[in-house]
Amino acid sequence: MKTPSADLFKLAFDSSPTGKLVIDHSGAIVLANREAERLFGYGPDELLGQSVEVLVPERFRWGHSGVRRAFQAAPQSRRMGAGRDLFGLRKDGTELPIEIGLNPVHTPDGVIILTTIVDISERRTLEAQLRQAQKLEAIGTLAGGIAHDFNNLLRSIIGYSELVTSVVTDPQALADLEQVRVAAARGQELVLRMLAFSRPSDSARLAVALHRPTLEAVDLLRSTIPSLIEIRYRHDAEVPPVRVDPTQVQQVLMNLVTNGAQAIGDATGSIEVALTAFRPDDAFVQAHPLMSKGLYARLSVIDSGHGMSDEVQQHAFEPFFTTKPVGKGTGLGLSMVHGIVQGAGGCVDLQSRLGEGTRVDVYLPAAASEVAQHALDVPDESAPLILFVDDEEAISDLSRRQLVSAGFRVAAFSASLTALEEFRRRPDSFSLVVTDNTMPKMSGLQFAQEVRSLRPDIPILLVSGLVDTLAPDVIYQKGIAGLLRKPHTGAQLVAAARALTAPRG
Ligand SMILES: Nc1ncnc2c1ncn2[C@@H]1O[C@H](COP(=O)(O)OP(=O)(O)OP(=O)(O)O)[C@@H](O)[C@H]1O
Ligand SMILES: [Mg+2]
Repeated sequence: MKTPSADLFKLAFDSSPTGKLVIDHSGAIVLANREAERLFGYGPDELLGQSVEVLVPERFRWGHSGVRRAFQAAPQSRRMGAGRDLFGLRKDGTELPIEIGLNPVHTPDGVIILTTIVDISERRTLEAQLRQAQKLEAIGTLAGGIAHDFNNLLRSIIGYSELVTSVVTDPQALADLEQVRVAAARGQELVLRMLAFSRPSDSARLAVALHRPTLEAVDLLRSTIPSLIEIRYRHDAEVPPVRVDPTQVQQVLMNLVTNGAQAIGDATGSIEVALTAFRPDDAFVQAHPLMSKGLYARLSVIDSGHGMSDEVQQHAFEPFFTTKPVGKGTGLGLSMVHGIVQGAGGCVDLQSRLGEGTRVDVYLPAAASEVAQHALDVPDESAPLILFVDDEEAISDLSRRQLVSAGFRVAAFSASLTALEEFRRRPDSFSLVVTDNTMPKMSGLQFAQEVRSLRPDIPILLVSGLVDTLAPDVIYQKGIAGLLRKPHTGAQLVAAARALTAPRG
């Protein structure tokens, strides 16, 4: 017959947030609470009478009964398996990581064991993500340091070989020197990619809509990816703008789509690029501790390639991790993606299964508000006027906006000849000329020369691409006052422009 206190006990036992089992001297389960049943996937009272060993994965079972008997011989409250990972076995055969506490209860019939069980899968996931984030950060810092030093070494290799080139006449020696220069330039390209993922974030970026840069990158990729691979692009009508450098988003896409194409190989296949708005729910935020509950722009690349094993997935984001043959991959693609996305306050998610393709999602937080930027959009008439030229309209447009929001007035052009015409019309109105170096009609250096012939005292900021190798002495001979290497951030551009327009005194 049940007493009221037995009912009360049952109620309390069942409402405990941790799993509880009571085990008798023979190892049989005599009591199990709701949470214990839920954790292990059993129905009400289904566990009663069963040996506790049914909850222990096969590979640990043989040792378990011994441990249990030893505990009963010298009972003492303690945690089980100190320093070891413990696993429980669910009814359906799957395992879960758990923590177990053991408490002996002395009864007239001998010692019974009260067992407390906590599911720690969520904690394990978070720990693993944190470890991974810390590891990537450490490697990033290290690689960034190395890249920086190497960049300087390579610059001098290039600089000195160009000096030697100017005095050597032997054609063979010239050809050899060119090889040195080309190899060093490739080294520099590599180093710049390393710098890209270790570069700290830049908070002064403008909010941009991702649709156009994405579309441009996809179009470009279509022409470089084998024709057996179909690239599709779809996008939501309303994707929030994000604070990120659009050329960096293009780099992210290039890397992801190239990986997808390489995973498909010579076969027929498809890659889908999707730009969508995304609002994480509670479960998602729990699984992704670096994300919060807000609006995100999500860029997904889904390929039908060979997929990745768990092992490969675990290492994929590490710099220099590659499964590709020597000369094919450097293993920097995904680490660069990670660096860029993290710098923009976002997060990358990878899902893949061997033989079934891969999906990478890049989440970028929506820009909070653009109000401050708009207010700055109308600079006063006394602000320094900058002549800006870059043959890529997107860059010229972005840079103009970056400079304008920093208080400059800007006349931006994507054709060097038109820009020159404008300068010729009113050379004295300008305080600074910013020019890209690689342009179709006229190089930046030539452009600078023309400008200087019209106004010898005008400061010129040269922006050079990844692969340009310009010796510093050549640059300064041409009267270039400053050099900015691509890819650069808006803040770097603004800082350079400020330095060159500051009143000298
Ligand atoms: N879409 C994908 N499908 C299958 N495996 C992939 C995919 N993306 C990346 N991987 C795996 O992750 C590894 C690392 O990718 P990552 O882009 O960092 O370097 P990589 O492609 O090998 O070289 P790099 O990008 O520098 O040319 C690849 O070598 C490949 O094994
Ligand atoms: Mg790659």
